[in-house]
Amino acid sequence: MENHEYFKVWQEGLFQGKACLITGGSGTICRQQAAALMKLGCSVSIVGRDQEQVDSVVSLLEKIGAQAKAKVVGFGGCDVRSIESMAAVVAKTVSAFGKIDYVICGAAGNFMSDFNHLSANAFKTVVDIDLLGSFNTVKACYPELVKSKGSVLFISATLHYYGVPFQSHVGAAKAGIDALSNALAVEFGPIGIRCNCIAPGPIGGTEGFNRLVPNKKNFESKIPLQRVGRTKDIANATIFLFSPAAEWITGTVMVVDGGFWQMGNFNTLEMYPDVLKQKLLEKPKL
Ligand code: HXC
Repeated sequence: MENHEYFKVWQEGLFQGKACLITGGSGTICRQQAAALMKLGCSVSIVGRDQEQVDSVVSLLEKIGAQAKAKVVGFGGCDVRSIESMAAVVAKTVSAFGKIDYVICGAAGNFMSDFNHLSANAFKTVVDIDLLGSFNTVKACYPELVKSKGSVLFISATLHYYGVPFQSHVGAAKAGIDALSNALAVEFGPIGIRCNCIAPGPIGGTEGFNRLVPNKKNFESKIPLQRVGRTKDIANATIFLFSPAAEWITGTVMVVDGGFWQMGNFNTLEMYPDVLKQKLLEKPKL
């Protein structure tokens, strides 16, 4: 995990007494969001599929929580594709914290695949994890969000702002997440629930970055702000969107990418290995 420079900006105890559920919570980006929220007093429920990974992140976070008077619980073995699975972790989170104020729909699945080798099930798998998983997460948390007048944070991407090769499945899923966030922002506004979305760009150390940017030579110079993203960049945006400073912000997609997507760099076929391009020309398959 990175250091926590956001403390120089955010007020100590900003989220004291609040509780946040995070799916994909043991992933590289989400655990930094969890750490940031906990440092500011928010208790956190880490939800993931891999029990060992969840346990190891929870033990890291416990140290932060001890200083900030925030608790952390972790629930492995949860698949966001199942509403029953989500309902179960929501019930356990509520029994630990008594409430849920914030939700981060962070669970995601990704692999590079040319269209010819992308099976219907492969497409469905990513759409189910990313889009249906986000729906299930909000669905399961909804009764608690109504009570707390809480706030939802979706995580999408910039992939669907233009055509990114070998990511048709992910781009489709992420576009759906933006649409879901926008619609729910309008529906939930009158009952006091805010819905926003963060679209991260290339964040160093993540699986997505390593897959999408196989050749990292001179990569930083292709980003207007001249560096790859850090997980704390997403954590800072998260704190802002949950904080009272964003009380009149709902239905926004905040791009956090150093200006990268404006350059349209993910979509140049040249940056991907030839082997992926050749696969498209193989015998068409279902
Ligand atoms: C083609 C593939 C494939 C690949 C899997 N499949 N990997 N097809 N190329 N590399 C196909 C399988 O053959 C199968 O289809 C279908 O997908 C389901 O595969 P399973 O392995 O059974 O699925 P599952 O065990 O549920 O695993 C889901 C997963 C896996 C997405 C495939 O990678 C996963 O769990 N990932 C979670 C972690 C992760 O990816 N995190 C990165 C998030 S980064 P068939 O037809 O054979 O049945 C991110 C950033 C995006 O999201 C934006 C960046 C800017």
